[in-house]
Amino acid sequence: MVALAAVRAQNASFAAQKHANDVCVFVGATNGIGESTLKAMLTLLATPTVYVVGRSASRWQTQHEQLRQLNTQAKFNFVEAEISTIRGVDEACKQIKTTANKIDYLCMSAGYFPIVGQIKTPEGLEQCFTLSYWSRIRFLHNLLEPLQQSPRPRIMSILAGGHETQLLEHDMGLENSWTIPNFAKQSATMKVLTFHRFAAQNPNMTLIHTWPGFVLTDVERKPKPGASSNFLWRWTFPFLRSLGRVIMSFKAIPLGESGQRHAYLLTNEGFGPGVFRFNEYCEASPKSEILENYVEEGKQEQVWEFTNATWEKALATWKS
Ligand SMILES: NC(=O)c1ccc[n+]([C@@H]2O[C@H](COP(=O)([O-])OP(=O)(O)OC[C@H]3O[C@@H](n4cnc5c(N)ncnc54)[C@H](OP(=O)(O)O)[C@@H]3O)[C@@H](O)[C@H]2O)c1
Repeated sequence: MVALAAVRAQNASFAAQKHANDVCVFVGATNGIGESTLKAMLTLLATPTVYVVGRSASRWQTQHEQLRQLNTQAKFNFVEAEISTIRGVDEACKQIKTTANKIDYLCMSAGYFPIVGQIKTPEGLEQCFTLSYWSRIRFLHNLLEPLQQSPRPRIMSILAGGHETQLLEHDMGLENSWTIPNFAKQSATMKVLTFHRFAAQNPNMTLIHTWPGFVLTDVERKPKPGASSNFLWRWTFPFLRSLGRVIMSFKAIPLGESGQRHAYLLTNEGFGPGVFRFNEYCEASPKSEILENYVEEGKQEQVWEFTNATWEKALATWKS
């Protein structure tokens, strides 16, 4: 475990170097761990330009006021988009690229705990899988050019670092095998394999997948059972959710600490370039023989082809 004091000391030393003119893109920073990481980053960078992608420009007004107080030299751009669709991600990236010639940090944390089961997007993909994988990789793919203009681009995906395992190869998109554990494992493994593909082609890029641990945010508060779901489930759901929150709180990491830790990983020059996985205490995840074998045999190419085919299908579905 990296002690919180060591995290704070490293962050303070980074801040003292007065890094100027860095460009950051945050997806999922309108709440929770992403927002906390953004707040920490604002205190570490001297004169950053920050793009925040979110779904409500009116809510952004309030958040903007708070963020400005953390760094009066920062420039903010809010990009309103529906990032649970590939089309929405494309529109967001198009907007970002009109002004961002380079991107130094890309931090992605949009998502939720899919306790209410599958939700289909207008493009026919499962929503939580989209936010966790299809859309996050699409951001990386679309923003590659400005990321390549940075001397040390750092990409972070906050979700399930260290939980990568065997792929369900017979049903890569989980069309017939969607369960919460399958979704969590498949999106984590596919992401890290795709990260390896990007790392191989971009030798100065650092790609980080983290497991944040339990952090008391709104992550389990938002999903609600649909009107068509079982009556008993709808009535017991709020109770079960509250119970889950109480259990979580025993192991929870304070939100501010989580933000400090993620900013530490984003900025720490002690590691990188390459692909890295960390737990909630900034410890590198143990080596995974399964992942290593996959990378050696080139499984990332198969995942990449499948990812591209899924994007195409999603975009075609929306159009039709
Ligand atoms: N908190 C935990 O204990 C924990 C544990 C393990 C993994 N994680 C994962 O870590 C990530 C961040 O979690 P968090 O705790 O920071 O969650 P959070 O506080 O609920 O924030 C989630 C972010 O994702 C955005 N988002 C959620 N649903 C969306 C949708 N349908 N379309 C567009 N944006 C959407 C939210 O936007 P709005 O502000 O517009 O709602 C917000 O910016 C998630 O992927 C979560 O699954 C969290």
